[in-house]
Amino acid sequence: MSEMLEKARKYEFIQGQQIKEEERPAFHITPYVGWMNDPNGFSYYKGEYHLFYQYNPYSTHWDSMHWGHVVSKDLLHWNYVPTALAPDEDYDKFGCFSGSAIELEDGRQLLMYTSVNQEKLEDGTVRDIQTQAVAVGDGKDYKKYEKNPVLTAKDLPEGASKVDFRDPKIWKGKDGNFYCVIGSRPADGSGQILLYRSENGFDWKFVSILAKNKKRFGKMWECPDFFELDGKHVLLTSPQDMLPEGLEYHNGNGTLCIIGEMDQDKYTLKEQFAQSVDYGIDFYAMQTLGTPDGRRIMIGWMQNWDTIAQMSLPRELSVKNGRLYQTPIKELDAMRKDRVEYNNVVINNDTISLDKIEGRTIDMELVIRPEDKENVYKKFALRFAQNERFHTELCFRPDESVLKIDRKFSGSERALVHQRRCLVNGDANELKLRVILDRFSAEVFINDGEQVMSAVIFTEQEAKGISFFAEGAAKIDVVKYDLV
Ligand code: FRU
Repeated sequence: MSEMLEKARKYEFIQGQQIKEEERPAFHITPYVGWMNDPNGFSYYKGEYHLFYQYNPYSTHWDSMHWGHVVSKDLLHWNYVPTALAPDEDYDKFGCFSGSAIELEDGRQLLMYTSVNQEKLEDGTVRDIQTQAVAVGDGKDYKKYEKNPVLTAKDLPEGASKVDFRDPKIWKGKDGNFYCVIGSRPADGSGQILLYRSENGFDWKFVSILAKNKKRFGKMWECPDFFELDGKHVLLTSPQDMLPEGLEYHNGNGTLCIIGEMDQDKYTLKEQFAQSVDYGIDFYAMQTLGTPDGRRIMIGWMQNWDTIAQMSLPRELSVKNGRLYQTPIKELDAMRKDRVEYNNVVINNDTISLDKIEGRTIDMELVIRPEDKENVYKKFALRFAQNERFHTELCFRPDESVLKIDRKFSGSERALVHQRRCLVNGDANELKLRVILDRFSAEVFINDGEQVMSAVIFTEQEAKGISFFAEGAAKIDVVKYDLV
């Protein structure tokens, strides 16, 4: 083991003990210590789920990318495993960037990641050089391959940048070969997804440009993922520098899902539909795995540069009516305790609270309907993580079909994005919400998972009140569980 890796492992072990259980979310992943960004190597290996993550153990800022590591049997209760990778080689000394994991024929686990180095130009400026490298291990300790890097500038199609060539996502094809998709910047300055093939996981060959951005959805496409689901092919990616299109995409780093069909001869994706993956505030760089029972599960970075970094709740994906649907993993049902239910509660120009409906680690289902279909309410609001001082609000206006999340009063002391709006694809007669709270986060699944809004909150745990407001007359059903 390199000195650098040993140092990281010692450091996290000692510092990690200083963090109290209640300072972490109950079932969302946080870094052992320090900083975390993208999920990496999300996979099932030898009876356990593995998740690695972009990790800087030494401070709460992005720097010197290592791979942190956690394992779990149920995707909800995670145990820390020592740091898997450190940027300790010449070819990756500026970082072990994002990547993925898969089991090899011989039972070892392969990690494939972006190795970052730098080069000095004639004018004295330096720039990153991104290549792909692999490491093999047993689920705990990994050894980098002697012949790294395995993909370099010489494996790029014409015009593709060697500065932006990152985030390999690997899978095993039906033909027995390994495939991977990698984010790339073509000559037009936007993004594209490259497809590579390998017989053994070590020797890789360029196959095709699977999809091209052509400056439509942001610029560079980061962290691609590609899989078959419900008879379609799905490409997930996280574009940088996005522009909004109505309420579909928001400015800056965003998420994109393209659904289509694969042209099996040209190895290109025939696009049919594009949408955001998450319509909330904090969600980026998502990655998926296939479970032994055939489900496709996605996890994302609940991005936030100011507070405790965490991953999202793992979500089950499906394609319905040509769109991507997401629901909380079914494993969460086992954590549901103390069911409380109310039906047909009418709120008429009023704010109400309901006995036993409160908490910060909860799973709550809501159905909101107009009391009178001819005279639909103007506005409905759900407030949670609430006390005299704080609350976070979800507010729905049926005449616009817009759901807004607002964390302005969540205890945030920074000039961050505090609100986002989502155009709900329903009618005014029924809005269904499933709200999952876990201490520092809220994830809202809209209309059985047709859309999702995720956000980190900053609120003291004492603020656990929940209230309901309606302008006009709304009628609600509520089912709430504590998650234990
Ligand atoms: C996405 C990203 C990836 C890169 C990693 C570096 O958030 O920029 O493209 O591999 O973070 O930490």
